[in-house]
Amino acid sequence: MRSLQLLSSSALRLGSCLGHSWPWQHAAAAAAASYSAAAAGAAVPEAAIEITQQGPTALVELNRPKALNALSSQVMHELVDAVMQLDAEPSVRAIIITGRGKAFAAGADIREMAGLDQAQAEQQQLFARWQELSTGRKGWTPLIAAVNGIALGGGAELAMLCDVIIASTAASFGLPEVTLGVIPGIGGTQRLPRLVGRARAMDAMLTARRISAEEALSWGLVSRLVQPEQLLPEAQAIADKLASFSPGAVARLLQASHAADNMLLDAALLEERRLFYSCFGTADQREGMGAFLEKRQPVFTKNKQPI
Ligand code: CAA
Repeated sequence: MRSLQLLSSSALRLGSCLGHSWPWQHAAAAAAASYSAAAAGAAVPEAAIEITQQGPTALVELNRPKALNALSSQVMHELVDAVMQLDAEPSVRAIIITGRGKAFAAGADIREMAGLDQAQAEQQQLFARWQELSTGRKGWTPLIAAVNGIALGGGAELAMLCDVIIASTAASFGLPEVTLGVIPGIGGTQRLPRLVGRARAMDAMLTARRISAEEALSWGLVSRLVQPEQLLPEAQAIADKLASFSPGAVARLLQASHAADNMLLDAALLEERRLFYSCFGTADQREGMGAFLEKRQPVFTKNKQPI
């Protein structure tokens, strides 16, 4: 198991201290160098996320437990940079996102946003980078949200942009932005109705009420509910399972699923067939179907490849 703090001078230190090279070391070092404080030798902000890689799985943990993992711009940049780098790494087959401490994430950082005016919000393109997690992945590495505690506002929205959402019985969800005089801004008004239906979504958003883990399961917002100590093992089991399949097939499945979110049905069905046909240009299709006919286990490609 190896562990890396991204986006601070610690990335540079780790890179040079450890005898081996990290797949994403260069990008991390470049990002770290962009912190002028680091370059000047001054105190640098503590990394807001932690990354651990175990085999084909990367675990990305939000690490601001005192602020209930509130999604500051530092968190956003570190998390998006990390996921993009891990997604580009052929050996990484699944990325688990979770929170350290009692919260998954209590939403966007209110302290950071409170003083902004409209021009500043627009100029800063507040939250725009979050979209890279859903549409910017070139390697189509599945994202698994392991929701360990409170997932409010942007925290719930972060979970909803992942491909699989599982939760512990200690989790709860909500989109309370209206109580702050704003609306969800990381996809909540769009994804929640698609995931749970308009009636439930509008009820949740307009009343800002908290949705328990059990209710989230019954709504289909999460696919599995487990005891807190089972959350990461369960997420790891999902990651292991999907890493045993053809990476090309998994990537195409994610692409087809994104088409479903973004296209009208006829166009999305065409896109699904295009992706299906392209499977027949892969060794994994021959291996998978051949193994079935020969009554043996398939041996698929290990690493992701461009599709
Ligand atoms: N932003 C910044 N700081 C936050 C935060 C947030 N979203 N949520 C919690 N914190 C901070 C608190 O300010 C507090 O810091 P201090 O100790 O320095 O005062 C610390 O985390 C612990 O929080 P509480 O003392 O409030 O903890 P609690 O257990 O009493 O309450 C809570 C927990 C109910 C989650 C409460 O913290 C809360 O309501 N947080 C805000 C939730 C929210 O409204 N989220 C939506 C944000 S807006 C958004 O996300 C927009 C979007 O669409 C992207």
